[in-house]
Amino acid sequence: MLVLGIESSCDETGAAVVDDAGVVRSDVVHSQVEVHAPYGGIVPELASRDHLRNVGPVVREALSRAGVGLSDVAGIAVTHRPGLVGALLVGVQAAKGLAWAAGKPLIGVDHLMGHLLSVYLRRGEGDVPPPELPFVCLLVSGGHTAIYRVDAPRPDAIHELGATRDDAAGEAFDKVAKLLGLGYPGGPVVDRLAARGDAAHVALSAPMAARTARDMSFSGIKTQVAQLVAREGQGKGEPWTADVCAAFQAAVTTVLARKVIEAADREGVRDVVLGGGVAANRELRRRVTELGEARGHRVLVPPLASCTDNAAMIAYAGAVRLAQGEHDGWDLVATSRTALERLTRKGRGRR
Ligand code: KG4
Ligand code: ZN
Repeated sequence: MLVLGIESSCDETGAAVVDDAGVVRSDVVHSQVEVHAPYGGIVPELASRDHLRNVGPVVREALSRAGVGLSDVAGIAVTHRPGLVGALLVGVQAAKGLAWAAGKPLIGVDHLMGHLLSVYLRRGEGDVPPPELPFVCLLVSGGHTAIYRVDAPRPDAIHELGATRDDAAGEAFDKVAKLLGLGYPGGPVVDRLAARGDAAHVALSAPMAARTARDMSFSGIKTQVAQLVAREGQGKGEPWTADVCAAFQAAVTTVLARKVIEAADREGVRDVVLGGGVAANRELRRRVTELGEARGHRVLVPPLASCTDNAAMIAYAGAVRLAQGEHDGWDLVATSRTALERLTRKGRGRR
């Protein structure tokens, strides 16, 4: 069974064809980085317009690379939450049009569910063994940072074990890079510079690092960097910038690694999975793997193409829903909130 997936929740327009075993037949991603780079962050209106320009060509390309037509897919899956509503709407409307025209079921997918299941994708390169259920997943991206226990691939069998109370970790990487004049997106640049710096040269404290705190916080460390830059000035040259990147990255990745492994210990779960764009961070991969293995866990880090935003994970999560006998009606709406959230990023308890 093949499913066409469409993703447009943020700054990537994606379309992919995946089968119900997770085998990726095609995965097309059009990045908007160049559209937003001059502004140092994502401009929602520009994101919507760019999705609108690209969703058609990206879908055609995904079908053509997979060598299939719309009549060959069993359903059309689309990210309908959470994300920028104007951006989500473009994908949702495109999916509705295609599903209606082709007479196929429309399957709404929670973007976070896509990230949580992306470890099951089979790309033929860099694949990791599928985790055993239950597993614990650290989902760490530009928009979300949370730890989940996954007992089954259904929203009612997924529990949030801790989340950031303010900024997402990726957002902190991006803001710190901006403060240091390193451009957008910041994560990859900070990662690269940190490798040349010495964390011991800069004193930054890791917020909410206490063992008892299950939640996380990344806005405080960003403020520490802002104060440092205000004191020292941006133009101190590369050795200093590299040291700040190293200290920031060490503080953030230490907390993330410790929290996810402690959560897995507490839950008595063996397999630990990383997901989201920040899972590309080499220091984070190293720390989680080192700490996890020392405590008897198996740490699974999917290939980068599965960690960053993509439509293959949406198609697969859609295939899982379809196999469970679920799909949606034409009243499917785009909404900024996830169905999986216990604590929201800014304010608790809202849905
Ligand atoms: O999952 P993703 O592609 O999009 C969202 O759903 O947010 O994640 C993008 C985020 C950005 O904040 C980016 O700076 C961060 O992932 N990122 C990294 C690295 N590569 C991307 N953060 C730290 N180190 C990296 N190597
Ligand atoms: Zn994402």
